[in-house]
Amino acid sequence: MNIIDRATIDKIMSAANIVEVVQEFVTLRKSGVNYKGLCPFHNEKTPSFFVSPTRGICHCFSCGKGGNAVTFLMEHEQMTYPEALKWLARKYHIEVKEKELTDEERQAESTRESMFIVNEWASGYFQRLLHEHEDGQAVGLQYFRSRGIRDDIIRKFCLGYDLPSRDALPQEAIKKGYKEEFLVKTGLCYKRDSDGRLNDRFAGRVIFPWFSVSGKIVAFGGRLLDSRTKGVQLKYVNSPDSEIYHKERELYGIYQAKRAIAKENCVYMVEGYTDVIAMHQAGIENVVANSGTALSYEQIRMLHRFTPNIVLLYDGDEAGIHAALRGTDMLLSEGMNIKVLLFPDGDDPDSFSRKHTTEEFRQYIDGHQTDFIQFKTDVLLTGVTDPIKRSEAISSIVRSISVIGDQIIRATYIHDCSQRLGIQESTLISSMNKFIRQQRADRRQAAEREQEAEERRQEEALAQQTAAPARPAAPVQRDHRQEVEMMIVRLIVRYGERNITVKDEDDCPVTLPVAEYIDSDMAADDLHFQLPVYEKIRQEAVAQSADKDWTAENWFLHHHDVDISKTAAELSVERVRLTKSLQKDVDEETLRERVIHLMADFRLDYVENRMKEIKQSLNGVTDADTMRSLMEEFSRMQIIRNALARQLGNNIIV
Ligand code: CTP
Ligand code: MN
Repeated sequence: MNIIDRATIDKIMSAANIVEVVQEFVTLRKSGVNYKGLCPFHNEKTPSFFVSPTRGICHCFSCGKGGNAVTFLMEHEQMTYPEALKWLARKYHIEVKEKELTDEERQAESTRESMFIVNEWASGYFQRLLHEHEDGQAVGLQYFRSRGIRDDIIRKFCLGYDLPSRDALPQEAIKKGYKEEFLVKTGLCYKRDSDGRLNDRFAGRVIFPWFSVSGKIVAFGGRLLDSRTKGVQLKYVNSPDSEIYHKERELYGIYQAKRAIAKENCVYMVEGYTDVIAMHQAGIENVVANSGTALSYEQIRMLHRFTPNIVLLYDGDEAGIHAALRGTDMLLSEGMNIKVLLFPDGDDPDSFSRKHTTEEFRQYIDGHQTDFIQFKTDVLLTGVTDPIKRSEAISSIVRSISVIGDQIIRATYIHDCSQRLGIQESTLISSMNKFIRQQRADRRQAAEREQEAEERRQEEALAQQTAAPARPAAPVQRDHRQEVEMMIVRLIVRYGERNITVKDEDDCPVTLPVAEYIDSDMAADDLHFQLPVYEKIRQEAVAQSADKDWTAENWFLHHHDVDISKTAAELSVERVRLTKSLQKDVDEETLRERVIHLMADFRLDYVENRMKEIKQSLNGVTDADTMRSLMEEFSRMQIIRNALARQLGNNIIV
């Protein structure tokens, strides 16, 4: 099912700027002609993720992931192909003509996409109620305004309102053609126990939608309107985890904050929805909330892609201080620099901002950040005299210092602590070293366990392979053949349009494009690539090479068939890294030799495999005619093999 037409796809592909696209998710810095940043696909502390604007592709030299703008989005945002195209179309203001979906097509749409569509609709519904419905205005809008939230901020965060009736939303949704299945899967509704009818989860609440980092609505939070709810259990109701929402992977406000975070090179971490909103209202936009739970590694890594600097904002009461201490070793061990900012008198950013002017609020935030280790020292040691408690506290501080990856920062903190606590530096260091040794041992053990698991997996895979019916070629040979195929296809992708001059059957020189030569050479012996995608590339290349203006690499890298563009990106990446070799392109003679050599290698492989197959078949043959024809073929193959081997021997490429 292709709901976007080819012309539009091509338009989107050529408009998509890989640097701009990747930059929505990863902070990039210029590095020569390319850009680099921390890889979003794996956890790393030094950047190995490269983006090449000229090639329109990105690639991680550590984990190998990457691709063009579309495949990057598919991989990174877990989008489907049409989702990624539509995302780009929106970004580049390209109109996508979609046909009205039929019932069948609607069904065929992936579950995830349907869930996003339902959430998108619901958010619009909640906003319309807030701004246009009489009750919404009187109750919901009034509530937000009474809390001092400006209308532009209400719009910016797409805040909404839901009517008190538990039936209104499901009825409206079903009427509009949204399926019960997705109303339940997104958690907007749940089924009533008594009669199985749908109930609206958020009825009678004001609504805070959660956006993913790419701006899709993944969940909602709904707050009771009653202002006397401090401490009430269900003050907030949130969407349950679902196929599109994993609480520990999302951060409230990240979509509205990401640009500011990268720009300011710092993120403020607050507890609640209203704190995020209050900060934006004061003009501080690099802020996210974790909704009162501990930070997860996923959330920390998401933030680390934008900045290594985090400031924790909490109210200054017991609970706030505890929250500030929780999970901080995780942040430190992920290489984040932490500062802490406490508000006085149990205020949170929201309540504090309402008691002060914007200017005072901003000044307070700028002026009251303390270094995390200092903060921890103050909190744990001020006024504590009991020697056992003191020793526990010091131990906890030293442990925090020990997880910091940077040796110099560790040494600085130890020095500081020694001065402030009046404890010898050497004592602190030996205590810290104990922690470091312990952590290393833990990591080693974890790595060993992982290694063992990996070996077991490989053994199982191997056992399955050998249990399977005998295949014509053993695994080792298949690998070699795949390698050769890969190198040939790489030549097609990189140099498909380049002309080379070779001799034809009558020994006359002919000049033709690399793509055509490879194809005709294979066709002469009815040879094929094993991988279907390689065959697709071969056929495309022949068809296109007739066009004078065709450049293979560009064509394949931005191909509308994701299979092809992804493969092309993999085959092309070497050049992104070796920028030097980019300038020095291969000359015709080298290219010709490479092509001819690889084709001979390919054929040799084929011939040797065929010979093995024939030998095997001969074992079971009783019929004399079959036997003879097999023997004949075998000796033909022998002659070809010897010729090829000679050719390869004389024609070694570097
Ligand atoms: N929270 C929640 N469920 C609750 C209470 C809190 O999910 N029952 C989350 C919400 O994301 C909330 C955050 O924890 O924003 C912080 O809680 P709290 O400080 O109680 O809420 P505030 O954001 O300050 O909300 P309000 O000022 O409206 O009371
Ligand atoms: Mn509050």
